[in-house]
Amino acid sequence: MKVKVGIIGIGNIGTAHASAIYQGEIDGMELCALCDISPQRLAQLKEEFPGVPTFASSDELIKSNLVDAIIIATPHYFHPVIALEALKAGIHVLSEKPIGAYTYGMDELMEAHKQSGKVFSVMLNQRANKLFKEAKRIIDSGEIGEIKRSVWIITNWYRTQAYYNSSDWRATWSDEGGGVLMNQAPHNLDLWQWLCGMPERVYAICAFGKHHNIEVEDEATIIAEYANGASGVFIASTGDYPGTNRLEITGTKGRIVLEKGTLTLQRFSCDERLFCYGECEKIEIDEQVILDEEYNGHEIILQNFTNAILYGEPLIAPAGEAINSLIICNSAYLSAWKGEMVSLPVNEEEYLELLKQRAHDSHQKSKKATKSTFEGTYKNRWNTNW
Ligand SMILES: NC(=O)c1ccc[n+]([C@@H]2O[C@H](COP(=O)([O-])OP(=O)(O)OC[C@H]3O[C@@H](n4cnc5c(N)ncnc54)[C@H](O)[C@@H]3O)[C@@H](O)[C@H]2O)c1
Repeated sequence: MKVKVGIIGIGNIGTAHASAIYQGEIDGMELCALCDISPQRLAQLKEEFPGVPTFASSDELIKSNLVDAIIIATPHYFHPVIALEALKAGIHVLSEKPIGAYTYGMDELMEAHKQSGKVFSVMLNQRANKLFKEAKRIIDSGEIGEIKRSVWIITNWYRTQAYYNSSDWRATWSDEGGGVLMNQAPHNLDLWQWLCGMPERVYAICAFGKHHNIEVEDEATIIAEYANGASGVFIASTGDYPGTNRLEITGTKGRIVLEKGTLTLQRFSCDERLFCYGECEKIEIDEQVILDEEYNGHEIILQNFTNAILYGEPLIAPAGEAINSLIICNSAYLSAWKGEMVSLPVNEEEYLELLKQRAHDSHQKSKKATKSTFEGTYKNRWNTNW
């Protein structure tokens, strides 16, 4: 038995997913339908994927009876809308990240998911990276004790102005709903909360159009406070070159640092809290270095989604968990807009209202896309770059 999948939105990433499935790289998954609202793209698809039926709207594809699962690879605002319709129709869903642009309505989506009994996952492909999986295992095992601080400098999401000009929805409040925190760093915000948990409060500074001619932020700094008193700092940018990817998590019994394709684990012979109050005489440090491995995170998530449908395999990135990164992202924007600390979860109504104002005033709605060719392969910049 094979999962019959349809893909909605066949741009950069949708084309890469379609190619992988069409070429048989995902065991147990068959490409059975494609959908894009662009007539030009639809015409190209008939040549690129001969024999695969095409649809001009997600609604037609969902009602076609040709698929039992969909992958949503449209711009962000459509993700929860299409997911909701598909789940209500009894169709499994794999949504591209982020799960949506705002958290308002996510409870309805989760309720529809529960009622459907279908598989609902999100393409958080960096969860498949060996070093993040190792970090998760180390932290959950208690090896570094209680977390005191996390600092993530993730500024190597460099993008040029040509990238922002490549599709007219990009970098607008009206069609994308945010900048680096909404488009590139959702992977890192997700991993941050996966490893360190959810903060209680955040304060953020966002620089809107600092490095590019865009209206949304291309640089953001989040300061986070956690229930146990731990603190966190998260710095993201698309304007630094070459930028940095360095995550340091300090615990009472050890420390992990992920940088340049390595995870360095330092285990303390004695808990620092005990040492501090004289309950042990010294701290010795045992150091272990773990190296990263080549991986294709997108195909791992596609295979996991397929296996979850066919064999009940646990999801690597369940939709319910994907909402957490959106909560942090929305809270950071709210904090930056209001210039104050924000408690989580975000006030959804207030957030949506302020987002709508920005979308209404969006001055780049008519920005013309300058590129319309899709290579059909996964790009290195979508992987974990060290
Ligand atoms: N997981 C990753 O590594 C990764 C990488 C790239 C992009 N993405 C995500 O994938 C999504 C798409 O990004 P992209 O770079 O491929 O964008 P893109 O602009 O290249 O492609 C989007 C495609 O969707 C089509 N489309 C728009 N609205 C639609 C609708 N309502 N129904 C059907 N088709 C519609 C457009 O015509 C276009 O062909 C974004 O949410 C982005 O964040 C994820």
